[in-house]
Amino acid sequence: MIVAVSLVYRNALIYELVMLGLYGRHYGGRYRSVAALIPAGSSVLDLCCGPGVLFDRYLRARSVDYTGIDVNPRFVARVNRLGGRGVLDDLGEGRPLPEADTVLMQASLYQFLPDPGPILRRMLRAARQQVILAEPVRNLATGHNPWLAALARRQTDPGLGARTARFTEASFDAFIAGLGQRVTRSYLIPGGREKVAVLDPRGGSPS
Ligand SMILES: C[S@@+](CC[C@H](N)C(=O)[O-])C[C@H]1O[C@@H](n2cnc3c(N)ncnc32)[C@H](O)[C@@H]1O
Repeated sequence: MIVAVSLVYRNALIYELVMLGLYGRHYGGRYRSVAALIPAGSSVLDLCCGPGVLFDRYLRARSVDYTGIDVNPRFVARVNRLGGRGVLDDLGEGRPLPEADTVLMQASLYQFLPDPGPILRRMLRAARQQVILAEPVRNLATGHNPWLAALARRQTDPGLGARTARFTEASFDAFIAGLGQRVTRSYLIPGGREKVAVLDPRGGSPS
């Protein structure tokens, strides 16, 4: 399934070092912002879960029943080794999602641009209590430095082709505004690189 995955996604250590470089002292805070929304003992479906850092450091100790889906076999194997349920799948192929109390996606919705609507609808169908989106809105890939931007775009190929589109805060706000009353809250994480939106799957229909 993986053809030529970017260096960033080769293994958990490289992935974490790059993310640490990007988020700096707010690296832990990006996971804590999401983990704080998840009740102990509940079930979580984490889409594009990466190497399972959220589960390993922030959810496991709280007895969360965790399933992570990713297209990267190394990351999925790591989630299984850590004691979660890792599932290998290309989420772009539209297979139905297993149900969970919380269905979340962190730093990954941009990979479904230009139309993230279908994946979000599948998330809303699978969620019993809430959908959480935590999306980068300040990105190197769309920043002012053309060299860094080109590098960042090349280095985010999960093995399915380079992902060049990104959300800005304005485009993410516009996207969630279209979801109407489903959105119960949205806020920037400390440092402002990611925006969190919490959605009620039983709220008003997305327009
Ligand atoms: C930036 S990482 C985010 C990982 C994790 N959510 C986090 O915040 O640490 C993006 C992840 O999305 C995965 N991915 C990209 N496209 C995918 C697809 N179509 N189906 C499943 N996983 C995908 C990549 O393999 C990678 O692990």
